[in-house]
Amino acid sequence: MLSPERNGLLTDVMNGAPAARLMRSYWLPVAVTAQLDSRNPMPVQVFGEKLALFRNLAGKLGLIDDQCAHRGTSLSAGAEHFKTAGRIDARGLRCAYHGWLYDATGQCLDQPGEPAQFEFCDKIKLKAYPVLDRHGFIWAYLGNAEPPALAPVDAIAREDGVRINTIGTWPCNYFQVLENMVDPVHVSILHQDTDFDQEKFAAIPTLRVEPTQWGLKTIAGRPGYEREVEFLFPSAVRLALPIMDPPIALVFWAVPVSETQTLSFHSWFLPLPTGMAPAEREEKVARMKKFIYELGDGDPIHHQSKVNAQDKFACYSQGQVAKRSHEHLGRTDAGVSLLRRLYFAAIEDVEAGRDPRGVVRGTTPEIVRFDNVT
Ligand code: FES
Ligand SMILES: [Fe+2]
Repeated sequence: MLSPERNGLLTDVMNGAPAARLMRSYWLPVAVTAQLDSRNPMPVQVFGEKLALFRNLAGKLGLIDDQCAHRGTSLSAGAEHFKTAGRIDARGLRCAYHGWLYDATGQCLDQPGEPAQFEFCDKIKLKAYPVLDRHGFIWAYLGNAEPPALAPVDAIAREDGVRINTIGTWPCNYFQVLENMVDPVHVSILHQDTDFDQEKFAAIPTLRVEPTQWGLKTIAGRPGYEREVEFLFPSAVRLALPIMDPPIALVFWAVPVSETQTLSFHSWFLPLPTGMAPAEREEKVARMKKFIYELGDGDPIHHQSKVNAQDKFACYSQGQVAKRSHEHLGRTDAGVSLLRRLYFAAIEDVEAGRDPRGVVRGTTPEIVRFDNVT
């Protein structure tokens, strides 16, 4: 049970709230690379902030404030419906209204309507964030300090197999999504009628939890085996998906759009040992796709599986922002309790100017491998 104040500390992620400052200390995915085409900017909203993502004609990525500094027209919204939304230029993004041009640092470079002697673009600069295009995602560092390294977790960085990256939206606060990530007990009940290996998951597990360098680990014990799931700060889970052998390695991030909406990014990695027969490879890839797009209509970017729909339902029906003042936590919620404790501590770390759990600096570390997917 949490008081409204403590709950608010976890759930308020708008702009510069303490939990937002914590999450902004890490690189976060903000788009699947395949979503961004070369002709149009893409609207991105994170932590309540409206931003315009674009790639200039030279290929450089930019993520800048969506509101033009002239009279505030959106630089990206409407791009799907109106050809007049912000235009990609050789040097950056041009506002659709009067053509002011911004580069990837947010610097204004051109004001077509102003007579040359009155131009003042050198005084105009929009907010801009560093962006990276890696492993099929576009990552942003939305903090104020020196960006840390991007931790290369196996499922997103390995190349010895097939990877599919997807995006989705959950109509609820991000912390409900995070609590679902550290709750392995629900799998035996909520996901009873899915492609998961039902024999393996029928028994309700015992649960152990441990803090780790990256966040925390849940260990679910069922007859004959244990299953570990890693939570990675600030908002990802890394697990082995038990729908085939070898299992798929999955990393799933939750990124707040606002207090009541959350983006989900999934990186699905199927290891394909060298020497596997082509027919077997094809069959496994087809099975992975069938699982990811089960409820979909052939759209290759949006994740639409039954398991995901069940998890979403469990989370959003708690309320857009779960109150947590009337809950009754038990032993099966050990992961939830530990996650909250670690989150409060990490928020304090950031407030005190310390790097929170899981921030990596210096040389990029080796691929971070977990031993439950070979
Ligand atoms: S509002 Fe953008 S150029 Fe005028
Ligand atoms: Fe689930």
